[in-house]
Amino acid sequence: MAKRIRKAVIPVAGLGTRFLPATKAVPKEMLTVVDRPVVQYAVEEAFEAGVEHVIFVTGRGKVLIEDHFDYQYELDATLRERGKTEMADLVEAQTPAAGAVSFTRQQKPLGLGHAVWCARDLVGDEPFAVLLPDMVMDGEPGCLKQMMDAYDEIGGNIIAVQETTPELAHKYGIVATGQAHGRAFEITDMVEKPAPGTAPSNLYINGRYILQPRIMELLATQSTGAGGEIQLTDAMLTMMETDPFFGVSFAGRTFDCGSKAGFLEANIMLALKNPDTRDDVLEMLKAVDL
Ligand code: UTP
Repeated sequence: MAKRIRKAVIPVAGLGTRFLPATKAVPKEMLTVVDRPVVQYAVEEAFEAGVEHVIFVTGRGKVLIEDHFDYQYELDATLRERGKTEMADLVEAQTPAAGAVSFTRQQKPLGLGHAVWCARDLVGDEPFAVLLPDMVMDGEPGCLKQMMDAYDEIGGNIIAVQETTPELAHKYGIVATGQAHGRAFEITDMVEKPAPGTAPSNLYINGRYILQPRIMELLATQSTGAGGEIQLTDAMLTMMETDPFFGVSFAGRTFDCGSKAGFLEANIMLALKNPDTRDDVLEMLKAVDL
């Protein structure tokens, strides 16, 4: 039986340059989608999937993220004093349990692979999940839970993918697929942003991974790749030469909140699903005079 996934790494040390000037002082992972910061969606998805411990890899200027997942004594007391018990209970329920989150720092944003490697001692010698928080997922169950269900059957390393169109494939990391294994399939190759017309499939890597601990050894010796950064994809490609990698097609929707258009799309689509905002937003959209 595959060793259980108990820990998830959420890297939040990137600079968020695509959102400047919004991200000058506020981490991009703290920008709000409807009623909660982007990063909270990933944390909820991880706990829903059965993860027990979330490890954040943070950096300079990211302390707001730590504060967000802490108990806020003054807020709790004030809400309760004013009879807003329901809201106080909701905020409390969304605060992770004591000892269920850890924070480590990536001193320099040297790339996603390097950020994951910074968590090596906290992860230890066990398989773990990685969730890129700027990819917000809408699905039931969540994307990581869908991957966990496949992992329980086949083990190994698992990458979540989502379908795109041939016209848009050049924007993403695309996988080449092999044999099917139940709900999953073998991944035989990965290509970062393939030149138009050369993509091996229409399946893009959407920011959720289950990885065996050997990846940390490979990341330790990984040289810099695209953009002068230590890339997770390069280490996974090396590992793929010897270890099994499977893809799971996420049954749901991925919003790329690292881009302005994706972030706005997430806000609109998730506001339309939220009973508090649905009717007003629908009216607003209907009234748009294009
Ligand atoms: P991105 O590739 O979106 O990079 O990171 P970025 O630097 O945050 O944003 P832009 O492109 O400048 O706008 C994907 C995830 O990986 C983290 C980011 O915080 C984000 O959650 N990351 C990226 C790190 O933790 N460290 C890095 O060195 C790079």
